[in-house]
Amino acid sequence: MDFFDVIKTRNSIRKYIDQPVEPEKLEAIMTAARLAPSWRNGQCWKFIVVADPTRKKELIRNTSVFNQSWMGKEYAIIVACADPTRSGHRNDQHYYLVDVAIAMEHVILAATALGLGTCWIGGFEEDKVKTLLEIPDNFRVVALTALGYPAGKEGIVGKITKSVVKSYDRKPLSEIYSMNRWE
Ligand SMILES: Cc1cc2nc3c(=O)[nH]c(=O)nc-3n(C[C@H](O)[C@H](O)[C@H](O)COP(=O)(O)O)c2cc1C
Repeated sequence: MDFFDVIKTRNSIRKYIDQPVEPEKLEAIMTAARLAPSWRNGQCWKFIVVADPTRKKELIRNTSVFNQSWMGKEYAIIVACADPTRSGHRNDQHYYLVDVAIAMEHVILAATALGLGTCWIGGFEEDKVKTLLEIPDNFRVVALTALGYPAGKEGIVGKITKSVVKSYDRKPLSEIYSMNRWE
């Protein structure tokens, strides 16, 4: 798929079919994460691919902070962690968040290019995720994403979510950038 088609195709998928993701595809996706840029090339990230059905169920049941009832059929939940000491900060901006967000977007776009669906999940309880997956104290959990084969048609929860948060809306270009000075 052409790069811009990947960008246009990507959207949050909240309904999946029960089909495993091939190991080659998973490896290609994690390679995309590996190639992401980061603060002084610190590569502060670590990903946990939770594909074991029991563990995945536990993760979903114990860590969702609001209604994530669409979760369950995806092949895996990818948990993106960071070691903040391997990244930097300036002007109160913590770059481990940036590093991991970029790598996670590489994951998401690579998955899209391979015909897979994802959905970024910010609604989780970090402490519970850390305990469940035995993540060391010095790591932060930055984001989760679902990964799997899309069902094709969005389910009711997905439809409602997309409508409530107006997922299809994007600001016009004129509102998001200006040339040479703030406008
Ligand atoms: C930081 C972040 C956190 C998000 N958290 C959730 C979440 O907890 N649950 C969910 O269903 N979608 C979540 N989303 C998905 C957004 O709702 C979605 O990206 C947005 O509505 C645009 O829709 P689209 O991804 O289909 O283009 C999150 C996205 C981002 C970037």
